[in-house]
Amino acid sequence: MSFFDELNAFSNSPLQQVSLFQQWLAERPLALFDELRLHVPILQLPGLAVVTKYCDVADVLARDQEFGVPDYAKKMHRATGDFFLGMEDGPDYEREVSIMRLASNRQDLTRIAGDLQAWIDEVIAAKAAGGTLDVVGDLSRRVPGRLVSEYFGASGMPDALLLDCLRALFRDIFANPGDDPVVRDAAATASSALCAHLDNLVETQTAQMHQGAALADTVLSRCVGMSTVPETSFEQAGIRRNIAGLIVGTVDTTSACVANVLDYLLGNPGILDKAITAAREGTLDDVRGYVYEALRFKPQAPTLLRTASVDAVLAAGTARAITVPAGTTVVVCLMSGMFDPDQFPAPTAFDPQRPERDYLHFGSGMHRCFGRHINRLQLPMIVRAILRLPGLRRAAGADGEMRLDGPFPNRLIVEFDTARS
Ligand code: HEM
Repeated sequence: MSFFDELNAFSNSPLQQVSLFQQWLAERPLALFDELRLHVPILQLPGLAVVTKYCDVADVLARDQEFGVPDYAKKMHRATGDFFLGMEDGPDYEREVSIMRLASNRQDLTRIAGDLQAWIDEVIAAKAAGGTLDVVGDLSRRVPGRLVSEYFGASGMPDALLLDCLRALFRDIFANPGDDPVVRDAAATASSALCAHLDNLVETQTAQMHQGAALADTVLSRCVGMSTVPETSFEQAGIRRNIAGLIVGTVDTTSACVANVLDYLLGNPGILDKAITAAREGTLDDVRGYVYEALRFKPQAPTLLRTASVDAVLAAGTARAITVPAGTTVVVCLMSGMFDPDQFPAPTAFDPQRPERDYLHFGSGMHRCFGRHINRLQLPMIVRAILRLPGLRRAAGADGEMRLDGPFPNRLIVEFDTARS
C-alpha cells in the first residue's frame, strides 16, 4: 500500500496521520519521499509542513529570519549554556561564531589531518593481529573523542565518561522531542560533570597564562589567550559554553556517519569492491566521493527541523506554493532533496562522482555545520582505514549487524585477514 493510501484511511484523525508520517520516515524514508516529491511536494499535516524538493529545502534553510531553529536554544541553555546553533541571526550570533572561527580555523586542517592519521593508525596497529574490529567502539567514536580532547582541548576526563556525557547531552538536545524526563535527567548529570571539568580547565589555564606558562595549543587554550583582548573575550562562562557546544556535535555525528557508510557498503558488495579499490589506489577525494554518496542512501540526519516565526510562503511563485502559519514546524527533508532528480540526476544510481557542493549532509544556510571542513577529512580518513583492511567483511551473525542505542549506532563488528590467517 502506498503512503497516501494509508494516509487517506486516517482522513478523520489528523494525529494518526502525523504518527503515520513519522512511522514511514523511520522505516521507509525513500519510498515516502519519492511519493511526496511526485504527488505532494509540500505536505501539510496538523502543525507540520513537510518539504521534499531540493530547491524548497535549500530555500527554507536560506530563510533563517522566517524559519528559525527549533527549541535547541532552551535545551542548550539548560545543558551547557547558550550556544550559537540555538541563536537567531544578529550581533550575538555574529560575535560568538566569529570568535570561535578564529579559535578553530582552517589553517588547523594540516595539523588535524596528521593527528587523525596517527590516532587511526594506532587503533589499526593495535587490532591488526586480532582480525576483528568494532567500527564504532574502536574507531568511529574513539577518533573524534581524541579530537575533542587533544584539538578542542577538553582533555583530562576519562575517555568513557567524556563520550557518555557528550552522548547524553546530544540525545537530550537533538533526539528528545517529547522532553522525556529520563533523557533530561541523564543530560543534567552529564552537564554537571562536563561543565565542572571545562570550567576547571579554563580557570587553571587562565592562571597558568597569567604566570607566563606556555599552554598546549588547543581551541580552548586559544580562547583563554584571546580573553585578554576585549574584542575576542567572552564573559566568565563563555569559553565553556562555546567549547561544550562544539564538542557535543563532534563525536556521535561523526560516528553515525562512519557506521552508516560502512553498513551501506558492506550491504552492497559491488560498490564495496570499488570503494576498496579507491581506498587502496585512489586519493582521499576519491574515498570522500564514496562516503558522501553512501551517506545519501543512509544519512546521519535525514531531516532537519525549522519553526516558522511568521506566516510564511513556501515555494513562492510555483504551483505548489502554500502559506504556513507562524509556529508551524517545517520538516526539511535533506535526504529527499538529495534524491530529487532535478538536482541529482539518476538519483537511485550510486555515483561517487557527484559534485560535492550538492550534498546536504552538513545542512545549509546560516547554521551550516561548523565542523564541515574537519568532516571532509575525518570521515573519509576513518572509512579509508577500514576499507584498507585485507579481506574486509561483516562479522558473522548478530555481531555483524549494526546495533543501536536509540538513534546512535553503538556497535558494528567487521572481520579481516591477519598475517597469520
Ligand atoms: C568536528 C565535528 C563537528 C563539529 C565541531 C560540528 C559542529 C557544528 C555546529 C557548531 C553547528 C551549528 C553551526 C551554526 O549554528 O552556525 C553544526 C551544524 C550542523 N552539523 Fe555539525 N559538527 C561536526 C560534525 C558533524 C557531522 C559529522 C555531521 C554529519 C552529518 C554534522 C551535521 C550537521 C548539520 C546537519 C548541521 C546543521 C544543523 C541545523 O541547521 O539545524 N556535523 N555542526
